[in-house]
Amino acid sequence: MLNFDYKNPTKIIFGKGQIEKVSSEIPADAKVLMLYGGGSIQKNGIYDQVSKALSNHTVLEFGGIEANPKYHTLLKALEIIKKENITFLLAVGGGSVIDGTKFLSSAALYEGDNPWDILKKAIRTEVGMPFGTVLTLPATGSEMNSGAVISNEETKEKLGMGGPGLFPQFSVLDPEVIQSIPQRQLANGIMDSFTHVLEQYITYPAGAFLQDRIAEGILQTLVEIAPRILKNTSDYEAASNFMWCCTMALNGLIQKGVPTDWATHGIGHELTAAFEIDHARTLSIIGPNLYRYKLDNKKEKLAQFGERVWGITSGTLEEKATAAIDKTVAFMHSLGIDTKLSDYTKDYDGFAQKIKARFEERGWVAMGERKDITPTDVEKIIEMSY
Ligand code: NZQ
Ligand code: ZN
Repeated sequence: MLNFDYKNPTKIIFGKGQIEKVSSEIPADAKVLMLYGGGSIQKNGIYDQVSKALSNHTVLEFGGIEANPKYHTLLKALEIIKKENITFLLAVGGGSVIDGTKFLSSAALYEGDNPWDILKKAIRTEVGMPFGTVLTLPATGSEMNSGAVISNEETKEKLGMGGPGLFPQFSVLDPEVIQSIPQRQLANGIMDSFTHVLEQYITYPAGAFLQDRIAEGILQTLVEIAPRILKNTSDYEAASNFMWCCTMALNGLIQKGVPTDWATHGIGHELTAAFEIDHARTLSIIGPNLYRYKLDNKKEKLAQFGERVWGITSGTLEEKATAAIDKTVAFMHSLGIDTKLSDYTKDYDGFAQKIKARFEERGWVAMGERKDITPTDVEKIIEMSY
């Protein structure tokens, strides 16, 4: 097992009827900006629950944060934060609203001229404006981690940011919120969290037995509950397990002491930036091809994944590894997720070459757990996904 430090300061408030607790988590004298997306919370009653809970607080609102939150929209919220002397941010939404709020938490205290530099120059946020979240869509794990991904529609870039100052102070996880989530977003949530585990698990053996078993436990649970969730969003048992799996998949725990990959996410973000493909679907396009391309590096863990999660017991190491990839693709299809770039766009001629050049420009010499996925490899992996 590798050495590690571990600290996660986010308080989780989990379960039915817990949204009302936001009032006791936010200081009574805070001036709050409540942030949300395109209106789902107004239709499903979450907006009313939060507003009622905060009836004794001073609360301003900013709605309209898009999926894959856009920098120029967030700048409008930043103006309000500064003009109104906001002291506390409350994100009510999925990964996009929470990530947008993290950007604002950082930008509100940033002293430079251009907040885009926080992303472009990868400036870590040591201290941000305090914020909490009410999660409405299990998927990203953003509710219990310190990362965010922001899109700039002008430059067609989607870049990450983070730092110890960007953990939410608290997150309310009420599994009943999933009742109103459309099938497409449910499938996305299952696939995003599944891939988060794979990014921290399909690498090479590191003698971290507990981390492996926790990772496999999350994967097995997601496979078990996926059909139940898609069939009936009122199935509270399935919903609560789904929600906790998504949080546990990316709250930092399973990555401790092990190598991590994250190349699928790095490449996937380019597909969202170029074609607006949903985040989770970009992972389904890239992930299996990356595993095939890097089979030699990853075959031990792929075979272990095949044995323990998919029950593949026969064949050589390579055969088990390949069968595990095939099973994963079949799982994606069972969720209604297409796995080829051409299923989403016809406009991909030259795209692989363009991304290769872009990674070279950014100085991204190599990615993956062994730092051996070069821009030329990225080009080939994208071509395999056509
Ligand atoms: O905008 P509204 O109207 O609220 O609708 C949203 C949105 O259209 C809807 N929705 C959310 N909760 C709902 C609901 N509809 C009905 N009922 C509910 N209870 O779902 C749509 C998608 O929401 P979004 O927040 O975009 O989805 P998700 O949570 O999948 O977030 C995706 C974003 O997170 C980033 C992705 O790159 C992407 O930008 N990620 C963030 C990570 C992190 N911070 O750790 C890690 C991930 O790998 C990922 O990169
Ligand atoms: Zn993800």
